[in-house]
Amino acid sequence: MSNSTTNWKKTSWRDHPVLQQPKWPDETQLSAVLESIGQLPPLVFAGEIRDLKASLAQAVHGEAFLLQGGDCSEEFSRCTAPNIRDTLKVLLQMAVILTYAGGKPVVKVGRIAGQYAKPRSSDTEMVNGVELPSYRGDMANSVEPELEARIPNPDRLLQGYNMSAATLNLLRAFTKGGFGALHRVQAWNQEFVKQSPMGRSYERLARQISQALDFMQTIGIDVESPQLKQAQFFTSHEALFLGYEEALTREDSLDGGWYDCSGHMLWIGDRTRQIDGAHIEFLRGVLNPLGMKVGPKHEIDDILAIIERLNPENEAGRMTLIARFGARDIEKYLPPLIRAVKREGLNVVWSCDPMHANIRKAESGHKTRSFDDILSELHCFFELHWAEGTVPGGVHFELTGDNVTECTGGARQLADDQLGLNYLTTCDPRLNAEQSLEMAFRIAEMIRS
Ligand code: TRP
Ligand code: MN
Repeated sequence: MSNSTTNWKKTSWRDHPVLQQPKWPDETQLSAVLESIGQLPPLVFAGEIRDLKASLAQAVHGEAFLLQGGDCSEEFSRCTAPNIRDTLKVLLQMAVILTYAGGKPVVKVGRIAGQYAKPRSSDTEMVNGVELPSYRGDMANSVEPELEARIPNPDRLLQGYNMSAATLNLLRAFTKGGFGALHRVQAWNQEFVKQSPMGRSYERLARQISQALDFMQTIGIDVESPQLKQAQFFTSHEALFLGYEEALTREDSLDGGWYDCSGHMLWIGDRTRQIDGAHIEFLRGVLNPLGMKVGPKHEIDDILAIIERLNPENEAGRMTLIARFGARDIEKYLPPLIRAVKREGLNVVWSCDPMHANIRKAESGHKTRSFDDILSELHCFFELHWAEGTVPGGVHFELTGDNVTECTGGARQLADDQLGLNYLTTCDPRLNAEQSLEMAFRIAEMIRS
């Protein structure tokens, strides 16, 4: 239980080695900013976090399916109503496709409203022959390749809080205020997608749902119920900058437990999951559902020990393992991990991140991913789980509702030499709306019940 988390305080991570933090130039300024964030209201509430955990517990047993997605890194300058709306739209469309095909509820979790902190492989990078501090996400510094812009500024933490609050406010309005109602399933299709084969497949499915609703209404069933009128939607981000996460960690007056109220679900990156490190220490004490990225460089025993540390009661819904092995290597790494977790009887949601280990560099220099590699990793993920008798419980994507050209392939066969047309990401390449829908249809084929 919450209160028995031994020797944990929201500050106890400070006694552990901490990786991947910005080098803030002024500690006093940092403390002052964190103190003011600590006074501000929580972004999400403990009750919502508990609801998400309960839904994820269903996904452990295959009674629900997790759909998590959004930008690699959000940007302050792109925190606008159209951007937020379009990302939400495409996630809702994907959720409808997956629900319809899979015949089970889809747990919708955005990488949104707080995904502003990025781990980097090195503290500095060379830009045009000049060594600059690496860009660590908008909550630390600016991506602009100037020394001044790259120096971490604690005021950005507060700005990140405000941007997250504004984003979440609009998401709540959209999902609770009618925009997310199933009656609008056809209206979510975007103009540029409608013209495409995927848009037409979606249109067909949406029409069937609308007809079903009309029929229910005709025979007198209440179609104004919150089940139909409101979409359940949750937020998530990588819990990376621990000072910020600590400032938003609050004790719940109902159950006396500690919740990190910066977002509903938090994940730990592949680079910050050292068992005695600060990130694990911090996260073991908060009651949020946790994701953990697992890439090729892992020791199975470490993973088991970390799960034990983070979830000693083996509570279902607490842990989601997000496997990111790459299309080429998943067959090598996933089965032994599945077997070990199964042998220990650990309750986890198995999720597949088919994005992060499938990065390649196009000749133009663009960082990209191929639709086929992504799909192929997903395919293997499902097949390997079925072979082991375990549950493939979810997927994790980097995507946007925009018409970007960052990943190649898909129905339109986007080619390497077209990447420059609308390449907007400051970090990793994302699926565009059309590619996202296509991916959802392909997953639907796999999970069709
Ligand atoms: N309330 C249900 C849910 O959120 C059904 C639902 C309403 C829904 N709007 C939706 C499902 C939009 C998917 C997409 O799951
Ligand atoms: Mn990424």
